[in-house]
Amino acid sequence: MSMMDQDILKVLYTQEEIAARVKELGDQMYKDFEGKDPLFVSVLRGAFIFMADIVRACQVKSDVEFIAVSSYGNATTSSGAVQITHDIQQDISGRNLVVIEDILDSGNTLSFLKQYFLTKGAASVAICTLLDKPSRRTKVITADYIGFTVPDEFVVGYGLDYAQKYRNLPYIGVLKPEVYSGE
Ligand code: IMP
Ligand code: MG
Repeated sequence: MSMMDQDILKVLYTQEEIAARVKELGDQMYKDFEGKDPLFVSVLRGAFIFMADIVRACQVKSDVEFIAVSSYGNATTSSGAVQITHDIQQDISGRNLVVIEDILDSGNTLSFLKQYFLTKGAASVAICTLLDKPSRRTKVITADYIGFTVPDEFVVGYGLDYAQKYRNLPYIGVLKPEVYSGE
């Protein structure tokens, strides 16, 4: 057990369960995007691990981009405002985008990004989120591809952080409340 593991209350999805689900999503997206030259856009930083796995699970001719948006800071609740801190580097007009996100929570980030990409001329914008937390939604938005639907608990691992830590856990788990109770 590592020092990080000791901060985890319970494991929600093991490394093996995540890998199996990623493979299913990759197969599903293969059917939907083969021949459509999709552009996978990963939302940094939380989706970087999921992105790396999903593009290899979906063997379509495609390319990748990265966008970074303002995040939670060290808090576990959203501030509401979304700011782009690193933008994509190419013209996306006429492209079929697949936005790769770690978790769809309030919906602020993805509803903003979807509108942003459509305004920039994308032909279509699909959303692929590893996790969906529908109980906390404040914006009307749904994902096209969902890894797992999670309860209203703060989760870390497989890219998801608390105060920038725990992203490198290979599984997804719930943090012990005492880890962030000082907030
Ligand atoms: P939304 O804009 O409220 O949908 O939040 C999306 C972002 O909030 C995600 O990309 C995550 O970075 C962060 N987030 C929301 N819930 C969690 C969580 O349970 N653990 C870690 N990050 C989270
Ligand atoms: Mg994120």
